[in-house]
Amino acid sequence: MQKINVVPRPNAVTYTGGIVCQTAFDNVFEYTVSDPKLGGEGYCLKLEPSCVTITANTAKGLFYARKTLEQLKAAETIPCVTVEDTPRFSYRGFMLDSTRHMQSVEEIKKLVDTAALLKFNTFHWHLSDDQGFRIESEKFPELNEKGSWREGDDFGSRHVAERYGGYYTKEEIKDIVAYCAERFIEVIPEFDVPGHTTALISTYPQLSCRNEQIAVKTKQGIFEDILCAGKDETLKFVYELLGEIIELFPSEIFHIGGDEAPKIRWKECPECQAKIRELGLENEEELQGWFTSKIIEFLAGKGKKAIVWNESLAGGNLPEGTAVQMWMDPKKNSVTWANRGNPIINSDFYHYYCDYPYYMTPLKKTYNFSPVPKGVAPIMERFVLGVECPMWTEHVYSFEWLCYMAFPRFAAVAERGWTKQRLCDCADFENRFTAIMPLIKEKGVYPAPKNEWNYNPAKRLGGTLSFFADKIDFELVANSLKNMKK
Ligand code: ACM
Ligand code: ZN
Repeated sequence: MQKINVVPRPNAVTYTGGIVCQTAFDNVFEYTVSDPKLGGEGYCLKLEPSCVTITANTAKGLFYARKTLEQLKAAETIPCVTVEDTPRFSYRGFMLDSTRHMQSVEEIKKLVDTAALLKFNTFHWHLSDDQGFRIESEKFPELNEKGSWREGDDFGSRHVAERYGGYYTKEEIKDIVAYCAERFIEVIPEFDVPGHTTALISTYPQLSCRNEQIAVKTKQGIFEDILCAGKDETLKFVYELLGEIIELFPSEIFHIGGDEAPKIRWKECPECQAKIRELGLENEEELQGWFTSKIIEFLAGKGKKAIVWNESLAGGNLPEGTAVQMWMDPKKNSVTWANRGNPIINSDFYHYYCDYPYYMTPLKKTYNFSPVPKGVAPIMERFVLGVECPMWTEHVYSFEWLCYMAFPRFAAVAERGWTKQRLCDCADFENRFTAIMPLIKEKGVYPAPKNEWNYNPAKRLGGTLSFFADKIDFELVANSLKNMKK
């Protein structure tokens, strides 16, 4: 029997017999219903020989039904089926780093179209980092004049002398946010603090502990100069800038980073140390927790909630209820956080980061990874909001390369976010993804060729090593190790 090929795999499909005629697609009936089984994102799609009927509780559910239909229609023969489908997780995100390298509005829209086809509902947009600040600011125009530009690229072995930079204008951002909203994708911007802030400090050195003029970075890495948490001026600036940016993003959620913030400057800074004493804090990790809490409080005043990377848990004083995004968490603080009844998102770097080569992270490894981190108690699984696949772009400087790295791995994460565990099967996914590849290409997104999805184990080590030999900055690794010991 002819089977249907849909990604993510629908959770219930009944084959009702017979074949759908092409004219059925001229007779599509849509109804909004009130069916508790379907929730806010589910839908029912009935394909009969001469008509199609869609029902859902919400416009979003109807949209997902149409996305399933779009995939079904691409097949030569289509069996009559009833699909009843609801997602496993409420958070199904992809992340795009537009700081290290930017993508054009048109490219982002192609990615968004493909994400919508795969029923992603969240676009986490990484917009500020050491290598550039990418949001237009009218309050702080110098941030765009200075902090949005760097003197070339020195990522790994790639060196480009030409000045690089720019930012998305408010109009462009609004355009992208609206484009996403039409596709039921929420844009969560990331404004990463207190670390990864060289672009801010290069413009306003007084926001750092040493007040020293530093340049926007041309290399990848973890940098020692971060925002000074001891100065009142820093939070004042963050509030003002955030207040301006917030206006562009209707999402109730805002990502405020918190990853990879070395404490070396804070340990030596009189103002940071005075703040620690004034607040009766134990150490610099608690200072980060306090600093983050202040921003969360500010966001709450604007009706917003925060997401933070898992390092923000290190001080043990993050406000309860804050959503934590797990990426690298050897102490499993995120698991403890979820087990205490707080929301987490799984974007484990070893499985879900899609900027690593297929040699290191083959499709199977991404696909077979469980969205629920080990150690989360079964009764607390509901605090795992879902999954996210990040695309960092230090080494991804063309849209073609980005698509090659993202697909099919983004699709694998989309499926793990939507489809129940018992229906997930990587070989089956690969067949279905192959079937819908022409549709994805029509959107201007070209996935990696099939023979590169899962290299055989003999090739994987060599390929991974050669990637790192070319891309890794050994000076950076040595510095990071030195900092970790301090
Ligand atoms: C991260 O990859 N630094 C979140
Ligand atoms: Zn300081």
